[in-house]
Amino acid sequence: MTYAHITGWGKCIPPASISNDEISTIVDTNDEWITTRTGIKSRRVSHVSTAELATVAAKHAIACAGIDPQEIDLVIVATCTPSTLVANTASLVQKDIGAKGAAAMDTNAACSGFLYALQAATAQIQAGMIKKAVVIAAERMTWCINWALRDSAVLFGDGAGAVVLEAKETPAGLLATKTGCDSEDRDILHISNFGTDLDKYHAFGPSNLLFEGREIFKRAVKGMSEACDDVLNQANLSLDDINVLVPHQANLRIIQAIQNRLNVPDNKVMVNIGQYGNTSAATIAIALCEAVEQGLIKPNDNIMSAAFGAGLTWAASYIKWGERVTPITISDATLPDCDKTGLELVEPSVKACLTKD
Ligand code: ACO
Repeated sequence: MTYAHITGWGKCIPPASISNDEISTIVDTNDEWITTRTGIKSRRVSHVSTAELATVAAKHAIACAGIDPQEIDLVIVATCTPSTLVANTASLVQKDIGAKGAAAMDTNAACSGFLYALQAATAQIQAGMIKKAVVIAAERMTWCINWALRDSAVLFGDGAGAVVLEAKETPAGLLATKTGCDSEDRDILHISNFGTDLDKYHAFGPSNLLFEGREIFKRAVKGMSEACDDVLNQANLSLDDINVLVPHQANLRIIQAIQNRLNVPDNKVMVNIGQYGNTSAATIAIALCEAVEQGLIKPNDNIMSAAFGAGLTWAASYIKWGERVTPITISDATLPDCDKTGLELVEPSVKACLTKD
């Protein structure tokens, strides 16, 4: 039997940020509300494209795995904020990382995108179709924010994370997974004004991220907890066997509610929402990378991850980590310098939103 080990991990965190106090100068909110209702203290704003974020994260993951990019058979970019639709974002990343000839595709399952993509790449490796893949999740969520809507404006940020998967014969990598979608309620979380449903010969205004926050909150807790139970059953494991929980980072209270339902102590949960906010598909990829960097994930650990997002898609994954928790080599890939603050970067978009009828 062939398995798809995670042999490399990397991230790209854009340098400019907006603190809660700073965002309070744009929308009617305050640090106390945002901190207590969401756990978020700050979020990053990208000065570069989604593809550039994805490329830097992938270069770090590839160096970490110690492989030549030309060995890669498949590049997947999980994103709901692609740089371009045709050609896809993954093709640009494939070119810029030097994975010449590799298959390149984008997947869009919103916040569940990384776990969906991990499943797709793992299945191809397990089936013997390919040997090496890089799975990236990259988002520019700040691009779709309507700065007139305080409930969503405070929640989202930009960033990217990536993993390298390699075929090996010992059991590790994604060992059990469950993905699904409650499509009946797809309208309660969506990005408006995006796609070919629009009449391209008429002005249709900005794309805005819109949601029914309370409803999503409840469904996210239920959906992620049930998917975790399902995966534990599949893998014949109990929660005591799980060393680390890496949940989607949408709201600290959602994470805590899942923890309570599953009865997982704080010291087993990876949380970084405070620094980055919700980076959609990228949250789990970044959190996985930071959990290894911070020593939370140890050799041979059992990891449970769960996500929930627009669609309404959901996913849970049981990942067995391998022997190695240190990179083989380190990439010096970085983004170009950013000469603006986070507030300066969003200023044109803020002006457009706040001057609209
Ligand atoms: N600052 C200050 N007050 C605010 C803000 C803000 N940024 N946003 C909303 N409020 C106000 C509301 O207007 C409301 O005021 P009212 O009582 O006078 O009407 C009050 O705060 C409470 O609003 P609620 O919506 O009940 O607040 P809640 O505790 O549910 O938190 C939140 C709102 C943070 C959006 C939460 O529901 C949430 O995180 N939902 C899920 C987020 C989501 O949909 N993410 C999208 C991606 S899906 C995913 O990633 C899982």
